[in-house]
Amino acid sequence: MKTKIFADANLTIGTVDPHLYGSFIEHLGRAVYEGIYEPDHPTANGDGFRGDVAALIKELNVPVVRYPGGNFLSGYDWTDGIGPKDKRPTRLDLAWFSTESNQFGTDEFMKWCRFAGVEPMMAVNMGTGTIKDAARLVEYCNHEGGTTISEARKANGAQEPYGVRYWCIGNEMDGPWQIGHLTAEEYGRKALEAAKVMRWANGELAEENGRKWSGAPLKLVVSGSSNHEMKTFPEWDRVVLEHTYRHVDYLSMHRYYMYDEDREHPLEDFLGSADDMSEYIGTLKATIEYVRAKLRSRKQVKISFDEWNIWSVTAPRREPLWKHAPHLLEDVYTFRDALVFAGLMNTLLNHCDVVKLGCLAQLVNVIAPIMTEKGGGTFRQTTFYPFKAISNAARGETARTFSDSPVFGNMYGTARCVNEAVNHDRARRTVCVSLVNYASCACETELELRSFGGLKAQSYLEMANSDLSAVNGFDGERVVPQNKELPTVKDGSRVSLRLPPMSWSFLTFTY
Ligand code: AHR
Repeated sequence: MKTKIFADANLTIGTVDPHLYGSFIEHLGRAVYEGIYEPDHPTANGDGFRGDVAALIKELNVPVVRYPGGNFLSGYDWTDGIGPKDKRPTRLDLAWFSTESNQFGTDEFMKWCRFAGVEPMMAVNMGTGTIKDAARLVEYCNHEGGTTISEARKANGAQEPYGVRYWCIGNEMDGPWQIGHLTAEEYGRKALEAAKVMRWANGELAEENGRKWSGAPLKLVVSGSSNHEMKTFPEWDRVVLEHTYRHVDYLSMHRYYMYDEDREHPLEDFLGSADDMSEYIGTLKATIEYVRAKLRSRKQVKISFDEWNIWSVTAPRREPLWKHAPHLLEDVYTFRDALVFAGLMNTLLNHCDVVKLGCLAQLVNVIAPIMTEKGGGTFRQTTFYPFKAISNAARGETARTFSDSPVFGNMYGTARCVNEAVNHDRARRTVCVSLVNYASCACETELELRSFGGLKAQSYLEMANSDLSAVNGFDGERVVPQNKELPTVKDGSRVSLRLPPMSWSFLTFTY
């Protein structure tokens, strides 16, 4: 098989916002407890945060972490998670049929963010929560002092406001599985009112009322469809946006892809996930444009793809009942998953004009790139490696690519055998290329990277494995990228590569 991929430095899709490489920690299973927080762990600091886990998160170069959910959010009362730990209530978590001890809450999360070197992205409960709860959480986090709530934050150890900028208004409110599920009309109205009072609690619009305000405005994310298989998609998104367009900055989208050979998801469908995700983003982009035109707005709402990943159906979801920090959703990712995962990252990069924030769901233990043992070690899943390479190198701009890749058929229509993303970082004078070959034969690939300057190959990683089901574990990381001999760059722009069957390749160049 052969393909030719062409890119030109003058033809770009857009700028990559570093927030595209965000992630997500939910009170679910062992993401918080035994994941990021384990006071008795040998690497824990004085606040109980695991140092070994934070080191791996730094390797991934994650800039922002969404918290505290997810489905958990819709039953969560944030006031349960503040104040003296021995006074905090233990509650039933009706989203995951677990118990929640509330030993980790908002203040612990803010401290952990500093420890891990990430920015917090908070979410307010639109299921059982009211707009008053939402405004008060903003007040707790961002108001300087002098009110009961902001003084409570000080009494809990934080003299200075946290200045949280990113806020999600609810989670997957279109899903019947959601605690307090709403119709699009109901949610659109509620989200609008929540957005208003959250901004007011942040001091925004004070100038309209004749007062001076010099703070940073909130970046608000309104909940879009949970996935594009929802019957209400994309009407949900249109209705919700029509209510909230003037008051929000992002529309959220979520999507998990799965492979289950025993069910009705053949391999071709799974391998075509990246192209399907691309079409899904395209539909939401068009929906945003429709609403923008209808409202005669100059404002450009962007997409926050704040839950994306691969999620198989094999790991337990709801057992055992009412345990604290049960082993839930602890998917062990295969080499096959890593290939699809790399393609999803390519898709995010190829839509960087509209997808300005992304959250890999999730970060630790729960459908995550990092796994931990209670009191013990960690391991990097197969998916850790594409994320690490791409998030560290693919900065700057995404170049528009043209390819004649052969295609294969699947439930979505067709998908390209070779899936690519080319990024150009003018500040660092680097170009990187991520290539996934989904075909079961090798692909002779000609790259033509024009107008970038005389390129010199700097690094060449490859993940290939004859066993698509190979996994990493606590006993060792077997599925890792290998360093390859650097290719020759002809005329500073042309590179010939042989992509092995079922492989991911990642090259960086300098000029
Ligand atoms: O990430 C796991 C779950 O997936 C989240 O709680 C929810 O938002 C989504 O359905």
